[in-house]
Amino acid sequence: MFDKIKSLVAKAKDSIAEASDSNVLADVKVRFLGRNGEYTGILRGLKDASPEDRPTLGKLINEGRAQIEEMFKEKEAQLKAREQKLKLAAERIDVTLPAKSELGSIHPLTLVKNQIVDIFIGLGFEVKEGPEIETDLFNFQLLNIPEDHPARDMQDTFYVGNNLLLRTHTSPMQAHTMKSERPPIRILVPGKVYRSDDDATHSPIFNQIEGLVIDKGVSLSHLKGTLEIFAKSLFGEETKVRFRPSYFPFTEPSVEVDVSCAMCGGKGCSLCKGTGWIEILGAGVVNPQVLVNCGIDPEVYSGFAFGFGVDRIAMIKYGIPNIRALYENDVRFLKQYK
Ligand code: PHE
Repeated sequence: MFDKIKSLVAKAKDSIAEASDSNVLADVKVRFLGRNGEYTGILRGLKDASPEDRPTLGKLINEGRAQIEEMFKEKEAQLKAREQKLKLAAERIDVTLPAKSELGSIHPLTLVKNQIVDIFIGLGFEVKEGPEIETDLFNFQLLNIPEDHPARDMQDTFYVGNNLLLRTHTSPMQAHTMKSERPPIRILVPGKVYRSDDDATHSPIFNQIEGLVIDKGVSLSHLKGTLEIFAKSLFGEETKVRFRPSYFPFTEPSVEVDVSCAMCGGKGCSLCKGTGWIEILGAGVVNPQVLVNCGIDPEVYSGFAFGFGVDRIAMIKYGIPNIRALYENDVRFLKQYK
């Protein structure tokens, strides 16, 4: 037993000396001093020793343990110091080197928005922005979408409590402007909007641009002329525009507007799914009820409104297949748009 204690202490000494890093050392420690460790096991042998030997043996075992613990402590400190030094060397930064900073690029959504805003400024529109948290009144009711009206299903809404919601479109700015300004009104409203929608072409947050014109004698043909100039400026002179009948509670008549496909020129391709046309916006003549709701006399004034998705136009213009690319902020993607 005396020999066994001695030889185990010697064995521990060797193993500790050999340990090359703190992980290995931790394993060695468990092997000798853990609950089922080799050295711990020696105590169990004490009961088999003769009663005369026991006190001496017990003392010896304790001394050996203290010795081993001391060796571990020393080695731990030694390894820790070395590892710290290696880590510092690996993460060394030479602050005297010239700074390497990359210049950012303009986000594709901003590029497209700026282009569109420029076109409408050229047509005499005033650019406005509005709140992203709206009341039910402005997002829906003033726009002729009463509570419980099935048209509310067209837009999956994020409600944030007590009649407040994240605006589902930029159209509430129509109501804000008509309530606070007198015609002639000619506004363009870019901004973020929110819907509970999420797939390859829909994101819960996206961007719209709203247009509103109110004056005496404004008709559907003014809408068509305006959108034709817009489409030709954005997609090229040869672009054609077509109106299809549609429905929005705040416009009457309402139209869905397509442009001839910029990629195939209208012959049909993968972008336009073979139809030659791409739907880009909703529009129409402002519903007289909306004018009344906002305090404008429909016997004197009329107007048109339109709203389109900036994301969709950016995806068409740059051939981006998944809307998420616009929100992930992966610099490898963003860098392409200068
Ligand atoms: N607000 C409508 C939408 O988000 C688009 C629209 C705007 C339609 C203005 C007509 C007039 O779907």
